[in-house]
Amino acid sequence: MNAVVEFVNVLASKPDAVSGYKSFTLGSFTFCRDEYFAHVSWTTRSGKPMSHTLDAGNFLRALMRDVAWGFFYGWVNFDAVIGTVNRYESVDLYAGSYNGTMKEAEIDLLENFPTAQIRATFEQMLDDWTNEGFDPFAAPQETGSAHGRKRGNNTAKVTRARELAKRCVGLKGDLAMRSDTSGAPINRAFADVPQEAPELHPEPGFENDVHAFNLFAFLSRSQVTWNPSFTSVVKYSFMCPTTEEHILPIIHGNDRVEWFFQMCDEIHWDCGDKNTGKPLARVIMKAGDMAAMPAYCRHQGFSPKRSMLLVWENGSPTLAYEIQNGKSPEIPVQF
Ligand SMILES: [Fe+2]
Repeated sequence: MNAVVEFVNVLASKPDAVSGYKSFTLGSFTFCRDEYFAHVSWTTRSGKPMSHTLDAGNFLRALMRDVAWGFFYGWVNFDAVIGTVNRYESVDLYAGSYNGTMKEAEIDLLENFPTAQIRATFEQMLDDWTNEGFDPFAAPQETGSAHGRKRGNNTAKVTRARELAKRCVGLKGDLAMRSDTSGAPINRAFADVPQEAPELHPEPGFENDVHAFNLFAFLSRSQVTWNPSFTSVVKYSFMCPTTEEHILPIIHGNDRVEWFFQMCDEIHWDCGDKNTGKPLARVIMKAGDMAAMPAYCRHQGFSPKRSMLLVWENGSPTLAYEIQNGKSPEIPVQF
């Protein structure tokens, strides 16, 4: 077997004498952090120095998703200023390019990087800037503070590996996640979720082929928020049930239609124009509601209590280009 090893040179400074954190350079962008903030600096198209500041915890929560999701579909806005666009073989990193006001003032910058380079930089920044006791994937009430001078690390939590099941979860040889349903504690917000397993009556000889499990029980034990806890993949149809609490740490900009099914409790969505951030809609989703996010929007969810959300993605590798060319619609249905 030939292992493919990517050698990527990450430009990192020595740790700062006071804060203890390293600074990172990616093209014309510089990232540094202090006790409270992440600072991003760049030079504008007209040669002026610009900078942007984010709360360190919010920055790390967003960075965690961008890394773990492999830059996801379309736009991962860390906030109204900085973010990434997945070009699927490369990634755009921008500051202000999708902020209508900054774009108009020509103080924005966008640079494209090979995926391996930006991934290696982001992974090292995430590891260096995450202190022991802070888990960027956890809900704010379930983890410690991101703030302060550098102390230790939390490498195990920021490098959680995706577990792949080869068969239906619970069937012999599935390899994955059984520990989540059998061993992990039920989250405090889901204490009332029934844990019964479905009855199974396979014909003799099919005991190893027929299976079912309680998805709600599975999700009630999810340790992370705003991250697909379980994904079923049938051709390009990706069903991603997740548990959500507090604020989606990124503002997701769509390059395709994305469906939401609110399985319990509620999430409030702020939807805006993908290119400028101009507000478009508020969507209050309660248990049982379904919504589709059009390909021209960006959206950020607020979940007052931990809730269950099913996200349905069309993973077709050609879809984003079909929409760009007008061959596929930006909206799910035309009445
Ligand atoms: Fe989304």
